[in-house]
Amino acid sequence: MAGIQKRVRARAVLTFVTGLLGLTLVVPGPASADMPAPNEAGSAAVQPEADLGAAATATATATPMVAVPSSRLAGANRYETAAAISRASFPWGARTAYLARGDLFADAIAAGSLADGPVLLVTSRCGSLPEAVATELGRLDPDRVVALGGSLAVCDETLRVAAEGRTAERLGGADRFATAALIARRAFPEGARTVYLAEHRESADAVAGGTLTDGPVLLVWRGSAVPADATVAAVEALGPDRVVALGGASAVTDQALAAAAAGRTTERVAGANRYETAALIAARAFPDGSDRTYLANGVTMADAVAGGSLSRGPVLLVPPECRVLPEATWRRISSAPPARVTALGGTAAVCTEQLATGARMAVFSPWESAGPGRLHDLVTKTRAVDPLHYVPSDLTPWRTTRHELRPEVDTMLEALFDGAAAAGKSGLYVRSAFRSYEEQQETYDYWVDLVGREEADLISARPGHSEHQLGLAVDLGSRSCDGWDCFDDTPEGRWVVSNAHRYGFIVRYPEGGTRVTGYSYEPWHLRYVGPRAAWMMHVRDRRYWDTYQPVAVADATL
Ligand code: DAL
Ligand code: ZN
Repeated sequence: MAGIQKRVRARAVLTFVTGLLGLTLVVPGPASADMPAPNEAGSAAVQPEADLGAAATATATATPMVAVPSSRLAGANRYETAAAISRASFPWGARTAYLARGDLFADAIAAGSLADGPVLLVTSRCGSLPEAVATELGRLDPDRVVALGGSLAVCDETLRVAAEGRTAERLGGADRFATAALIARRAFPEGARTVYLAEHRESADAVAGGTLTDGPVLLVWRGSAVPADATVAAVEALGPDRVVALGGASAVTDQALAAAAAGRTTERVAGANRYETAALIAARAFPDGSDRTYLANGVTMADAVAGGSLSRGPVLLVPPECRVLPEATWRRISSAPPARVTALGGTAAVCTEQLATGARMAVFSPWESAGPGRLHDLVTKTRAVDPLHYVPSDLTPWRTTRHELRPEVDTMLEALFDGAAAAGKSGLYVRSAFRSYEEQQETYDYWVDLVGREEADLISARPGHSEHQLGLAVDLGSRSCDGWDCFDDTPEGRWVVSNAHRYGFIVRYPEGGTRVTGYSYEPWHLRYVGPRAAWMMHVRDRRYWDTYQPVAVADATL
């Protein structure tokens, strides 16, 4: 496993370096953390596979790659989203198209293992197809159209309209267990080495299981000790070596698992919650990582269900709370970084913040670790720079000024300034950046002379104790105010405070944090910790580098 991680890490670092060479640029997210970007405001306006997170254009300035490209497969509703997923999964058409009911998902979930065609969703209105489905069927031009479930799920007339003279078929058993069994036999006519069991309700575990390709998903009653006859018979017919329960024992009981396995090896893939289980399934389905990672809503699930036909990567889940990217989800992205992160569904399903954060989690900075000259160094009032007179060897001038920064900080600050300007905040400038031990001595002495030692210790680090000496800190000013204290009253200051994390910076000395940091509020003092750590502090609501630094170091050594 460590080998794989090393390989994916090496790839991520390579991508990063490519970025440094200016081959890939990343665009900042929307102006406000909680506001959707204008082109995502209505999911109907979102084009499938439209690049939302990464710009294709290069500029003269080399920008480190802080996120892999992100995109969305989305329509105005679940029917359109399923059609968009179909277009992405089967860009050159498909021999078969499957139809499943869009209001209940059991059949569509079981259909995740069908590889010869997409699953399109239909409504309960008999004989009428959502327009997006009709269009997609025309594009796919399949030889046959197959309804999943009985005629109560997809009525005969709907199937007839969809087939439009092509071969029409139905895979429908007496109940969802029997339908899942029929689907399994169709997907694996020669049998399967592995068979998965998921609870019969529309569980997130079963949905995430749609991307497993080594065996079908059969259903069991939730919590029941006895599996359905159709399930037992299907296991027997498929002849697997092992039977794997998806989810905890309250969903697929140990007894039902043992009974269905009938003496075969059993296993369970279960995390503490649906997000963890989805990540475990991802690791199982794509042990060597994947080109894509899809994010879908783990509660409404309609989009995740349709995502079962996607073969380029796993479907990971996000909760409805926009700011939250579950630990298990981002850890999976970090440990097996894809080349692209794609949201399934509109912003109501996977919000802009979640998508952007997911895309950032896929990129490592080569400097992500602690130690001298590294991004995750911790320097505090009591913890000195080590060695005390350290001077970074790679300082680079900030624009045409006398200020100097480390190269990655310089380029990310450039991106931050661009982002601010794009949001109409063009009055930012750098007041101070790298300060040597000697310059920090002068700074500290200046403040002692001005306000006395006790007060100075709240606003200036003593020599050898300033992050400015690392080349990783910068003090910003706004041309619309003259002084330090007014910075966060300016449009620039307010924008910086709520957007710095998008560029890998944190407000290192937050308001009300003197007890933790030892310093007064400094909205102008940004510390660069790298995009992943900065985003995770934002997503996890952690304000202090003093306490978060060990977490960031641990995360970087995944
Ligand atoms: N103003 C901060 C604490 C520094 O001097 O580094
Ligand atoms: Zn500062």
